[in-house]
Amino acid sequence: MWTTPLTMLLCASFGVVEAQIAYTGHLSELRIKELSQLAMRMEHSINAKKYACDSYYDHVCSRNRPLFSVMGHMPPSSDLIQLLTKLQNDPEQFEAKQKLIDFFISCNTLKSLQDCYRETFEYFKPLFGYIITKDLVEGSSHELRDFRELIQRFVDRSKSVFGTDSHPLRNRLQTYKEKFATPSIYFYAGDLNREYAGLRIYRESYEHNLRNIEQHRKRNSTFELGVQRTMLDWSLYLYQSRFKPMSYFYPTFTVHLYMTMFNISERQRDSTHFREEVECLKLPQYVNVLSEARMLAVIYLKSFRHTWQEYSDWIQSSTKHRAIYDQENEILRHYQLSNKRIFFTLFAQNFCEFGKELAEHVFYLGLKENTDFFNTYSCGYQTEITRNCV
Ligand SMILES: *[C@@H]1O[C@H](CO)[C@@H](O)[C@H](O)[C@H]1NC(C)=O
Ligand SMILES: *[C@@H]1O[C@H](CO)[C@@H](O)[C@H](O)[C@H]1NC(C)=O
Repeated sequence: MWTTPLTMLLCASFGVVEAQIAYTGHLSELRIKELSQLAMRMEHSINAKKYACDSYYDHVCSRNRPLFSVMGHMPPSSDLIQLLTKLQNDPEQFEAKQKLIDFFISCNTLKSLQDCYRETFEYFKPLFGYIITKDLVEGSSHELRDFRELIQRFVDRSKSVFGTDSHPLRNRLQTYKEKFATPSIYFYAGDLNREYAGLRIYRESYEHNLRNIEQHRKRNSTFELGVQRTMLDWSLYLYQSRFKPMSYFYPTFTVHLYMTMFNISERQRDSTHFREEVECLKLPQYVNVLSEARMLAVIYLKSFRHTWQEYSDWIQSSTKHRAIYDQENEILRHYQLSNKRIFFTLFAQNFCEFGKELAEHVFYLGLKENTDFFNTYSCGYQTEITRNCV
């Protein structure tokens, strides 16, 4: 089905054998390896020349290489190759998959393999959702279990934070937790065939294919809306998050749930209380004069505190969690890192795009008066406690 050189290349570049995976303590070899890789990527992402306690923004943002900014960005090339190879080797043959393969072949007559992997991923994401949920996410139960637990913890905890009244987001999350018990049923071959039914792909003509794909993308895809969209986005997120520590999941996922909830609840609150809180926080003048900046500062601050609390609770909630946390820290120590540093860095990098001034004030309020933060970075000082304001 593939042209010969392509087949050889794909097979050569992906040789994972699904053999018995060795464990040390609670961590599999794969998780241990990923910790080291995460640590190395972090070295390239932060600016070690900037002292964290002076300007955290400069420390985590100034190299302009956030480790993780939005859910569902493009996977690195090695992952794209892995996904395409898995798809190719998957025994189920169906029309939509054949179109993807034909597109890849047409692309490769004109472009580099690397570019074709990227383009194919971009245009055929739902098929990657298919292989991820079939082969990778459900197979490695640790991610899926942790992810579902993460949702449940948020749902439970959010009741004490936002009140026990039923809330549309909370109800939806509860449903998603159920759906992620069997995510693969959202990516059946038959549905994917229907999704791509109108798309014509020719091995011989890349230009035609591009034009057809542009046309195809103008119509409403079932994977761009509603449940299907979330199942796809979160499946891709899970794929990117394989073998990661919990200090990664909380500041990249849970924090977004809190921000979504606070973005609703803070805007509905009685304005007198809100004004009092903001006064107590002593926001800098330029934030204070802009009502939207003031609002965002409060939303970020609260989201940070609750996400941090939730992660801390996770560590404390069982001896196994504690042991995992300690074992990970032991490995990270070789890189002058720790789970807490991973958490703080990833959390802060959510805000790099807001620019130095606003981000720095959110950090100032949220991080620098957090005992764990200044102990982690040995800042040796504690700024004025504003904890009781909000
Ligand atoms: C896409 O959806 C919009 C809004 O639901 C609708 O108005 C439009 O006609 C749809 N387009 C196609 C091509 O189905
Ligand atoms: C927050 O709420 C505002 C107003 O309701 C909305 O325009 C904005 O898109 C929301 N932001 C996020 C990140 O949900």
